[in-house]
Amino acid sequence: MVDRAASDPGRYRRVLLKLSGEALMGPRQYGIDPEVARNIAGQVAEAGQGGVQIAIVVGGGNIFRGLSAAATGMDRSTADYMGMLATVMNGLAIQDALEQSGCPTRVLSAIAMPEICEPYIRRRAIRHLEKGRAVVLVAGTGNPYFTTDTAATLRAVEIGAEVILKATRVDGVYDADPEKEPAARRYEQITYTDLLSNRLEALDATAVSLAMDNEMPIVVFDMTQPGNIVRAVRGEPIGTLIGGEVSG
Ligand code: GTP
Repeated sequence: MVDRAASDPGRYRRVLLKLSGEALMGPRQYGIDPEVARNIAGQVAEAGQGGVQIAIVVGGGNIFRGLSAAATGMDRSTADYMGMLATVMNGLAIQDALEQSGCPTRVLSAIAMPEICEPYIRRRAIRHLEKGRAVVLVAGTGNPYFTTDTAATLRAVEIGAEVILKATRVDGVYDADPEKEPAARRYEQITYTDLLSNRLEALDATAVSLAMDNEMPIVVFDMTQPGNIVRAVRGEPIGTLIGGEVSG
């Protein structure tokens, strides 16, 4: 049930924050803007001080985009594995920025690389959260053909998060691409089924159907606006809420 009224500030205990890799670029064409990383880290640290447990899944599109490479002829699985490695770099950058903001952080990877970070073990991730650490979950699901949105949904369900907060460069879900259609309208709330049947591209269908099957609400919001990550983590109404039914 999509219920804005239930989104009172401070209502969440554990959230999954999905950061788009592209948003880490800031004004750049590629890579990580240190100012953006610092800003995100500062907000996550501030939001975490309220006692909310925060797990982060990060994309890799600022470094390598598997689908685009596959479109130019590269083997899709190879391209996806390269994309997963890109998320590891982003995760380490976020860990560094978070720890410089005073927020203890652990990076857990779906692909074993013990010299660099911990393996993803569900119970260990939960334990870190309970001890007040942010956890950054990298390398997607560890499998090609799955997006980081799907990884975020899977991890959110696994660790018992109450919501997925999808931080992106758009302020919600629109009925058409707002960059191409100036008259596009933003939804305040939308159901999983409407999102799927209208083929809206805010999230891929695998992620949406996994969220639907597990009644996992998703909030899509614009992380480029100052303070929005804190607002989203506190449960303030923001962006578009995707859920089972639209209330009111
Ligand atoms: P607890 O002591 O269990 O509360 O957690 P902790 O993370 O503080 O302790 P642990 O001894 O597991 O880890 C200490 C440091 O080593 C942390 O920064 C971990 O992220 C890191 N670490 C733990 N396991 C691994 C691993 O397999 N690979 C890498 N590269 N680092 C690890």
